[in-house]
Amino acid sequence: MSTAEPQLRVFDNPEALARAAAEEFLRRATAKAEAGQLFAVCLAGGSTPKGLYGRLAEAPYGNKIPWSRVAIFWGDERTVPPDHPDSNFAVADGALLYRVPIPAANVHRIEGEQPNPAEAAASYEEGLRRFFGIRAGELPRFDLVFLGLGADGHTASLFPGSEALAETRRLVVAPWVEQLGTYRVSLTCPVFNNAACIMFIVTGAEKADILRRVFKATGEDPPLPAQLIRPQDGELLWYVDREAAGAL
Ligand code: 6PG
Repeated sequence: MSTAEPQLRVFDNPEALARAAAEEFLRRATAKAEAGQLFAVCLAGGSTPKGLYGRLAEAPYGNKIPWSRVAIFWGDERTVPPDHPDSNFAVADGALLYRVPIPAANVHRIEGEQPNPAEAAASYEEGLRRFFGIRAGELPRFDLVFLGLGADGHTASLFPGSEALAETRRLVVAPWVEQLGTYRVSLTCPVFNNAACIMFIVTGAEKADILRRVFKATGEDPPLPAQLIRPQDGELLWYVDREAAGAL
């Protein structure tokens, strides 16, 4: 199967980017609902997607998205409780989830509060297998995955130099992140690369250099984590604002 070429869209500002990303979410969720299927979406962590999450809750998107047919997952989570300000769940819950009529059973958060992150990863993996009805050796296929980009080229909680980058068997891992001095829980490259569509969302001048490095033709050695994200049979969208695109 071909690996799709990245499709880059540059927006004047984060608000325009958030509107376009919300439009894409609405279009894809509606198409799945009309086909009588659930729309399985994987949310990104960090601060960049906050604008998108807020737009998804507001008109004209919040009242049009078929929330009862949307299943929400996360690409990664910090090892903190769900009400902690650093929690990726808390960010999405505060900006979006508590504002829309999505059934609680459709929200599948990673249990960052678990004392043993490896158990949180294993439990999340079991939940993915159950939801997607997959057996050992099979991969879940998300309809849409949102990802952010760190200034060091990490995405989700896949950081440069991490053993998690080479994981080919497990769906979810709990790597020690040396750069942060903490554990994280993260989906793995095979899961991301089995998605129907991946959308990176990158804004701000502080991301211009790393975006240039990710996009430059001669890949880095070793590749940056974000360069390992290439859906095998899906679309790869880069939604960036003009400031982040400043060095392209
Ligand atoms: C996280 C994210 C991480 C994030 C990037 C960018 O849990 O922090 O998964 O990969 O997307 O670090 O973060 P910002 O959007 O805050 O710049």
